[in-house]
Order: sequence, then C-alpha cells, then structure tokens
Amino acid sequence: MEDKFGFDVLTDRRGTNSLKWDVKEGELPLWIADMDFACAPCIRNAVVRRAEHGIYGYTIVPEEWANAYVSFWRRRYGWEMKGEYLTFTTGIVPAISSLVKRLTNVGDSVALFTPVYDIFFHSIENAGRHTLEVPLKYDGEEYSIDYADLEEKLSRPLTTLFILCNPHNPCGVVWTAEELGRIASLCARHGVTVISDEIHGPVTDEGVRYTPFAGVSAEAADISVTCLSASKAFNIAGLQSAAIYAENAVIRNKAVRGVNSDEVAEPNCFAIAATVAALNEGEEWLDAARKYIAQNKAFARDYIAAAIPQIKCVRMKCTYLMWLDCSAFCSDSVDLAQFIRAKTGLFLSDGAEYRGDGRYFLRMNVACPRARLADALERLERAVREYISRG
Ligand SMILES: Cc1ncc(COP(=O)(O)O)c(C=O)c1O
Repeated sequence: MEDKFGFDVLTDRRGTNSLKWDVKEGELPLWIADMDFACAPCIRNAVVRRAEHGIYGYTIVPEEWANAYVSFWRRRYGWEMKGEYLTFTTGIVPAISSLVKRLTNVGDSVALFTPVYDIFFHSIENAGRHTLEVPLKYDGEEYSIDYADLEEKLSRPLTTLFILCNPHNPCGVVWTAEELGRIASLCARHGVTVISDEIHGPVTDEGVRYTPFAGVSAEAADISVTCLSASKAFNIAGLQSAAIYAENAVIRNKAVRGVNSDEVAEPNCFAIAATVAALNEGEEWLDAARKYIAQNKAFARDYIAAAIPQIKCVRMKCTYLMWLDCSAFCSDSVDLAQFIRAKTGLFLSDGAEYRGDGRYFLRMNVACPRARLADALERLERAVREYISRG
C-alpha cells in the first residue's frame, strides 16, 4: 500500500524534549497519548510560515479559528455549533481544572465512568472535590454502562458534575446517541452539569463516527460544556490549543470567566495557525492516519492472539490506545508494567492509574510505525512469558 504520509517512517524523537521519548537508550515508550508520526504537511507548512515571520508576540484568537471548528464538526459529525459560543483554551486539562472549580463547590462530588483518563482525578481532587466512580461493566469483551449505579450516584446531594469521556479513553467505547441521550436525561433530572471531553472524537476506527454529546438533544446542549481539540487527532498536543463550547448562557459565562481568570485562555503564537490548518486542510491526513492505526490495531490483535493468548484485547472502536486485559495472570498492573519495562525496555501505561478495574490491564499506544509496533509486541511476548513462568 502507498504510504503517502510516511506513517512507516521510523521517526526519531530523541533529543526533542519529548515527554514520551525521555527514556533510556534502548527503551521503547508506548505510553503517553501522542503519535510517533510527523504531522500533516498542511500543519507543518502553517507552523513554518509563522516561524519564518520571526516575531513571536502576543496572539489574538481570530474569527477563522472558530469557523474552522464549526465547519469541521458540521462536515464530519453533523453537529451545528455557534462560533460565538466557542472559547479558546490552552488545553483540555487546563480547561477541565478550571471548569471543576467554577461549576462545583469545595467538598462536592464529581462523578465519572471508570476506568478513565487519570488526569481527571487530579483536576477534581487538587481542587478539593471528591471523585465519585461509576464503574463501567466489563463482560470480558467490552465495556458498558450500569445505568442504575449511574442514577444512584447522580442522585446523591453532593454530586453536581459529571465528566464524560466521549469517546472513552482507555476502554475505547464510542458512546451511541441513545446512550448519550440517556446520560443527558439522568443528569438533567438530578441537576448535574456535564463536561464532555471530546478530544478523542475524531480518532475513531474507519467507518465509525462518534456522536457529540451536545448534539444529541436540546437537554444535552443545555446542561453541558464540551471540550474540543485538534491535538489528539492531528498530533499537535505540544502546541497547547483547545476549545470549550457551551450553549447555556449561565454555564458559558461561568466557564469563560473560569478559563480567563485562571489565565488559560490565551494562545501561543503557533496554536491558531496549526489548529486552523489541521481542521481546514488536514482531513485527508487524518483519514489516512485512522486507517493506518486501525491496521496497527488489527496487527497487534492478531499477534497477541497467536503468541500471547494470556492477554485479551478489549473490543474497541476508537483511539490509538489499546486496552489489554491481563486478568488471566495478573492483578497488579503496576508490578507487571514495571517488570516489562525492566526486562525488555517496553514502557506501557499501567491500567491501575485509570482506577475502576484498571489494575488488571495495560494500555498500549499503537500510533507508531508498524515495524516499531512489531518490536514492541516481541518485547511484550518475551516479558509476559517470563512474568508467568516466574510464578
Ligand atoms: C481524555 C483526554 N482528555 C484530555 C487529554 C489531554 O488534553 P490536553 O493535552 O489538551 O490538556 C488527554 C490526553 O491524553 C485525554 O486522553
């Protein structure tokens, strides 16, 4: 197959202050969620053009930035946003940390489905709020919602906020419109505001489309703040660029005041150019990347089924983060991840970080050239064999 965008190229990220690649010589890091692929040419050109200007002063957010978000989400997901309701933020984590403080009180409970992206816990707990886990149900193949448990937790007097990961990292669930509608109705019934983090929205498998939460019903739009970004899909996390969107004027005012008073609403001078280029011109690259990632997932699934049958790959439809069920031989993923790294240099995320049933799982980032993935799988096979035989 033609490799127009060079996904097979063994990129070298050492020496670039990469958080992912700041590891020992010979180690292979497939943990944090960024890709080992060069960005789309349109993004690189936009950044180079801006860099060549040579003056990197304070930057405003132009109308074309909001227009790029509105048209990308309309074209791809049929969701009609109003550009004036979008606010720039320097990232989804800074936005969520700020929103938690503005939308809840100290001592409140913030509910979320677990296992989930671990930094949500920091945003909640660093602000003196309590995390209220609503564990997803796992049937040995995939994850689903326990609505009775969800409703019971939303009905508690101190629960004022629900953080939804849509689609869900790390279990790879693409929530359906029906599921999102039910979540919205339950939250509305109990007066709970929703933050929908849609950073992984554009990174679904081929043929799969995610559904924006606020697009499912007027009720969902009225009780929520949506967090959007080009950073996961287009691999520009280091440019610190994201957006929040709220239709309800009261929620929007609180959210906009929050990100402004926390000083996370002003872009660096590359953020706008890169995001506008990605959303307006990057779709061919994005669809090629989704295809390559889907093939990587299939490659890893086949390899694991044949050579490491003790691991089960959870069925998933999105993200480039595979969720590996190691429950057949391990109930302490911290120990397992450390063992794999020490023995082979393969650095995976231990599932315990994500709480819920995460201690039985590992997370592996497969957004890398296939040859690198093959190397990782050989290391994993070797490590698991040794781990099991050591008893
Ligand atoms: C669900 C989710 N939200 C947010 C982030 C990080 O967002 P940002 O880099 O914009 O702060 C990640 C990164 O992996 C993520 O998985």
